[in-house]
Amino acid sequence: MEKTVDILGFAGSLRKGSYNKALLRAAVELVPKGAKLEVFDLEGIPPFNQDLETRPPRKVEDFKSSIRAADAILIATPEHNYSIPGVLKNAIDWASRPPTDNVFYDKPVAIMGASTSMLGTARAQYHLRQCFVFLNMHALNKPEVMVSYAREKFDANGRLTDEKTRISIAELLESLIALTARMRKQ
Ligand SMILES: Cc1cc2nc3c(=O)[nH]c(=O)nc-3n(C[C@H](O)[C@H](O)[C@H](O)COP(=O)(O)O)c2cc1C
Repeated sequence: MEKTVDILGFAGSLRKGSYNKALLRAAVELVPKGAKLEVFDLEGIPPFNQDLETRPPRKVEDFKSSIRAADAILIATPEHNYSIPGVLKNAIDWASRPPTDNVFYDKPVAIMGASTSMLGTARAQYHLRQCFVFLNMHALNKPEVMVSYAREKFDANGRLTDEKTRISIAELLESLIALTARMRKQ
């Protein structure tokens, strides 16, 4: 029997009512048999300080350990000023250092994102893909989950109600699991 695929998810928003955190909650509901999705909250990760990269703060240690233990990564990114939020970039910077301990190295990764405007984080997602090149991650190309006009797609309790988006997230998870399984066989 194949080993379970352990996915670690995190959102680039600290906001309680974050649409991107809500996308991750939907992904937890939709994760298929044979996989597990654990969510890590970036709240409490301090600004990156390279002086501390070999002895990072506890919260960063926890983040790095969770990434190390995961077979695959799922990032839910908001779009801030046409790019990824500082909160997300900061967390990625910590986890990528020092270069001998870039915990993202060789991991499969998938992206999804929700924004309140028309392009549904498209610009932020392409910036994030650029980071994956330096991190040497293996980014899933399709499906692209870009949730536009987020206010219309979640209910008052932050539950994703848009059926098309729920189907896209389920497909994204299936594809990430398949990519991870293919990489295991190599
Ligand atoms: C600093 C800032 C910059 C933003 N820039 C963009 C942007 O470039 N494109 C966009 O579609 N939405 C932008 N927004 C709106 C976000 O899509 C919206 O705040 C969204 O809810 C953020 O994700 P969250 O709900 O997960 O926190 C911006 C919001 C903030 C706070």
